[in-house]
Amino acid sequence: MELHVVHIREDVPDITEAKKKPDGVAVLAFFIKVEEENKNYTTLINKLENIKYKGQLAQMEPLPLSSLLPPKEDLGRYYRYEGSLTTPDCHEGVIWTVFEKPVELSISQISQFSTVHFDGKNSTYMVENFRPVQFLNERKVYWSSASTLLPPAKVLMLALMLTYILSSLFQ
Ligand SMILES: *[C@@H]1O[C@H](CO)[C@@H](O)[C@H](O)[C@H]1NC(C)=O
Ligand SMILES: *[C@@H]1O[C@H](CO)[C@@H](O)[C@H](O)[C@H]1NC(C)=O
Repeated sequence: MELHVVHIREDVPDITEAKKKPDGVAVLAFFIKVEEENKNYTTLINKLENIKYKGQLAQMEPLPLSSLLPPKEDLGRYYRYEGSLTTPDCHEGVIWTVFEKPVELSISQISQFSTVHFDGKNSTYMVENFRPVQFLNERKVYWSSASTLLPPAKVLMLALMLTYILSSLFQ
């Protein structure tokens, strides 16, 4: 599983406008690693049962984004490249930052993200919803070991992507 924190530029009102600029969208990506239970995710995970089906809504007390990410001192090592969104329309011109340090959750916590469905009651569980690996197409992938702070920007959404590994839990 992977956590995507999708940002848009501060000077645009929404994602539609952000997509019109070459540097309008930036995604911070974190891999999820099976470890001990991470209590900082309890509030978020408990809401999943209220949004099992498409169109459902849940309200949550605001929580600091930093509590869902690895500690700040571990965010200095990352990869950066120009890519695209991983869901249709797969819009290009997205600045990706993929952090080396994963977010740690227990297997039980991770499996709860697979209890939501793609659509209505009869639809399949939201698993294997990853985009296949794309060709490099001569793009440069940068690596940084320098320490850095998260840039201020609007956080649009948290998208949690499941890998096919998880789907085996439900077969
Ligand atoms: C949970 O959040 C607190 C406060 O942001 C932080 O100090 C702590 O390291 C976080 N725990 C984990 C496991 O990420
Ligand atoms: C779900 O599937 C059942 C059995 O195939 C069917 O009877 C029911 O009408 C379906 N419900 C919806 C909302 O499509």
